[in-house]
Amino acid sequence: MLVDALFRWFFLTVADSRLLKEAATRYGMRGPNSPAARFIGGRDIAQAIASARAIEQHGMTHTFNYLGEHVRTAEAAAEATAAYGRVIDAVRSAGMECNLSIKLTQLGLEIDPSLCEANLEQILDEAGAAGCFVRIDMEHSALLEETLRITLAAHTRHGDVGTVLQSMLRRTPDDLARLNAAGVPVRLVKGAYREEPDVAFPEKRDVDQAFTRLAERMLEDGAEPAFGTHDPRMITAVNAAAAARDIAPGRYEFQMLYGVRRDLQATLASNGYGVRIYLPFGAEWFPYFMRRLAERPANVLFVVRSLLHEQIGAHRP
Ligand code: FDA
Repeated sequence: MLVDALFRWFFLTVADSRLLKEAATRYGMRGPNSPAARFIGGRDIAQAIASARAIEQHGMTHTFNYLGEHVRTAEAAAEATAAYGRVIDAVRSAGMECNLSIKLTQLGLEIDPSLCEANLEQILDEAGAAGCFVRIDMEHSALLEETLRITLAAHTRHGDVGTVLQSMLRRTPDDLARLNAAGVPVRLVKGAYREEPDVAFPEKRDVDQAFTRLAERMLEDGAEPAFGTHDPRMITAVNAAAAARDIAPGRYEFQMLYGVRRDLQATLASNGYGVRIYLPFGAEWFPYFMRRLAERPANVLFVVRSLLHEQIGAHRP
């Protein structure tokens, strides 16, 4: 238990390192065989569209995430906003369903919330014209209140806007009641950030128990419930809760991360469940990738094996 907690703490701390992020962005993920490529759907939108096509061929849908977070300048936030405009154009030109997942710190939330809202508004105008759904990802709990305020306002103005709630946070039942009452679509996840015990359950079993209770409330009162998990126990619990309430599988969906539990993704899709793949792409892959390592020690072994393999390959004649 202590080892697990330390492991998670280490990688989540590394995920926050600006220096490492800059070095990794510059030097890392050099090709399709780099370890991060397993979890990232491409370096640019053309590669991401190709990955999305492959997902569709397996009977699943997708949500595009242009990687980036915690931007420090208004220019970088404007660039991310413009990039989302290009994503919307590319996805529509490809004739695909358009569904985006966006982090507000990429649009400048930590610089100035009104700047962030203006950038989001620009994206939502373009998304609305193109028939895109926009989901606002949830970041660290320090940003939660502002994220909910911006989401609720955007949902009132635009409709096709949802967000994410984390079962690890103690306050989530109240937040879910607020979002359900407003008809805002929620993706329920366990939570990927380092949090203090006064705001989040330190024990995994409490996070899991909260997940199943929240899932029941979403099935009963939620708009378009989505469950972002790879945990077979959570998936079984959601399906059992839905069956007990006579809710058909078509009225909710599972969402999973690109490259994670591809076996489970395929099984669920072939059994007729809706499966949407979170498809991150772009150069700013480092914090996202570190959070994936924090979730699962085996991923670190996978990285080490890939790197050793590359090294050995590189020294072969
Ligand atoms: P758990 O961590 O208990 O893992 C269960 C099993 O799933 C593991 O035993 C393993 O088999 C597999 N697994 C899980 N993570 C893996 C990984 N990285 N690599 C390989 N296998 C893995 N968080 C957040 O705070 N804000 C957000 O907006 C989002 N958005 C989001 C979208 C989607 C579509 C998903 C699936 C997840 C998120 N998350 C998130 C991340 C989420 O909070 C959580 O950290 C991960 O989903 C891992 O939790 P699980 O529910 O999968 O269970």
